[in-house]
Amino acid sequence: MNAKQEIESLKKEIGHHDYLYYVLAQPDISDTEYDKLMGRLKELEKNNPELITDDSPTQRVSGEAVKDFETVKHSTSMLSLDNTYSSEEILEWDTRIRKMIPNDVIEYVVEPKIDGVSCALTYKNKLLMLGATRGDGDNGENITLNVKTIKTIPLKLLTDIPFLEVRGEVYIEKNDFKELNKNIIEDGQQPFANPRNAAAGSLRQKNPRITSERKLKFIVHSHGNIEGVEEFKTYIEFLKLCKKSGLSTTLRNINIVKKIEDVIVLCDKLEKEREELPYEIDGLVVKINSISQQQKLGFTMKSPRWAIAYKFPAKQATTKLINVTMQVGRTGILTPVAELEPVECGGVVISRATLHNFDEIERLGIRTGDTVLIERAGEVIPKIIKVIESKRTGNEKKIKIPKECPVCNQSIVKEKEEEVAWRCINPSCPAQIERGLTHFAKREAMDIEGFGDAIVEQLVSKKMISDFADIYYLKKDDFLKLDLFKDKKAQNIIEAIAKSKSRPLSRLLFALGIRNVGEKAAIILAERYLTIDKLVNATVEDLQKIHEVGPVVAESIVKFFNQPETQKLIERLKKAGVNIKEELKKGPKILEGKTFVFTGELKNLSRTDAEAKVRELGGNDSSSVSQKTDFVVAGDNPGSKYKKAQKLGVKIISETDFLNMIK
Ligand code: IVH
Repeated sequence: MNAKQEIESLKKEIGHHDYLYYVLAQPDISDTEYDKLMGRLKELEKNNPELITDDSPTQRVSGEAVKDFETVKHSTSMLSLDNTYSSEEILEWDTRIRKMIPNDVIEYVVEPKIDGVSCALTYKNKLLMLGATRGDGDNGENITLNVKTIKTIPLKLLTDIPFLEVRGEVYIEKNDFKELNKNIIEDGQQPFANPRNAAAGSLRQKNPRITSERKLKFIVHSHGNIEGVEEFKTYIEFLKLCKKSGLSTTLRNINIVKKIEDVIVLCDKLEKEREELPYEIDGLVVKINSISQQQKLGFTMKSPRWAIAYKFPAKQATTKLINVTMQVGRTGILTPVAELEPVECGGVVISRATLHNFDEIERLGIRTGDTVLIERAGEVIPKIIKVIESKRTGNEKKIKIPKECPVCNQSIVKEKEEEVAWRCINPSCPAQIERGLTHFAKREAMDIEGFGDAIVEQLVSKKMISDFADIYYLKKDDFLKLDLFKDKKAQNIIEAIAKSKSRPLSRLLFALGIRNVGEKAAIILAERYLTIDKLVNATVEDLQKIHEVGPVVAESIVKFFNQPETQKLIERLKKAGVNIKEELKKGPKILEGKTFVFTGELKNLSRTDAEAKVRELGGNDSSSVSQKTDFVVAGDNPGSKYKKAQKLGVKIISETDFLNMIK
């Protein structure tokens, strides 16, 4: 195979694995195998730059930032949906449309109304040519470079369609939104108010590198012009075509209903289940499935008659602001927190809301005693939307914005002009030290039982510890100097500290509180580098070779390890006997020498976990079936690997058989 052929084949293979990983969440190969493919492609492209094409997975993130987005005209207008808020309104809509198609049997499709940003993608001869925002409906903005960074968007369609303009929603999942805002706050910036704003802001970034780190997703819900494919008869058929082409669709969460009464029952049911979805929805969309019926019904000026949105009431409530307290975080940022009169909001009792930063207090013009409107959106901590000024009595009090850290009384600063956060930059501020230490000791980190807030506060205030390594030099006598400490308790905590020395590297990395390194990233790094010494020497380029690590994460890791204090800290941790290695799990190698291939959906464990288990027990996992395969584990809806196994006479076992095998 020559370089050109190999590049083509790698692009196809990586595209397929991106689809399995990002769209179906059913990866077929391990991350290491994926990285190998990507590494080989990069190497070939480096040696043959003339063979680099726009649809290469290495080109998802372009280096250059744009000044302004160019305006683009949509092939057909991007319309909106008519909104309804009650079952009566849905019935009225149904009566209206039935009058227009009186003798037809109607089939309704009910799907989530994703709370994201509309986006149109144009594919010509299978290649992604344009990504555009909705704009005013007729003209949008060209955001192709940003759209290309979204991993659930194929750069090349898997089906042969000469022209396809799909439309859908770009969104960010609730968990990713929470993580994003956490990082933004740590960086001293203004967090996004909700996942929709986060998606919109990320999509309109002038620098595609930033967009690429935002974990955006795209889901198809409609289309513009399509040419050169056999006409589909229903909306569901259209979605199936999209799915076959490699695009994400709502198919997994779709319902086909025959009676409008059942649509209403379903809306009620789905409204109750909205929290279970990984993304925010602001309602449901009811569509007529038949395309010929859609054509008969047509459009009004602004929306299709064949679809209607059923909007959920927002998760909002009004209550009173009792007080504002200041919290000093691990990185020194001061966060004002609103203490509220407890109120029920979307099924949960709320007594606190975040005010994010001082600018937010100004922006809201909020005073203690004010009646406020709060909303819960995509994150656990609700936020204050506005002050209801008509409820003011005149007794409300202005909120004093502090000039110094409420804990150490040192003056506070803005690190950069453009930041909104005020920080206490006193490295010996007890609040920061305490937060860092409690994070270090918590269950998900070094798991030092009993080493909670109360103890940390005393140890810090008595100046007995000031960094992580100090914990490991504490003696039993030190604890006996603290309040309410008797021999037994002191002994227990000394033992808990000693026990924590053997935690794997992944825990230590998470415990160190490196910016942008959460639990998952810590595991990935530990499994890759196996010892902290190797990670300390990793460059931004090395780190970025890891599938899940982008430039921001890579840079913060390098920055952290380059600090002389970090190096000293690591030396002292090592000296105290703290483990700095990750052992890939060892145990009885009951699957030694056996090769497993997984196909279909597993019920009890994820594909990645199942493969990890195989490796842990000494076996091999592979992505393709061959004569060398010992077992094919078939879950629900197994794919072509099942047929191949049958053909080759490879033993096929069920998920239950597999679970019994590894018991
Ligand atoms: S269908 C002709 N389906 O909601 C319009 N839209 O409020 C066809 N949206 O602009 C749109 N989820 O961006 C459709 N399942 C869904 C949707 C959905 C979210 C957005 C879409 C649209 C807006 C209208």
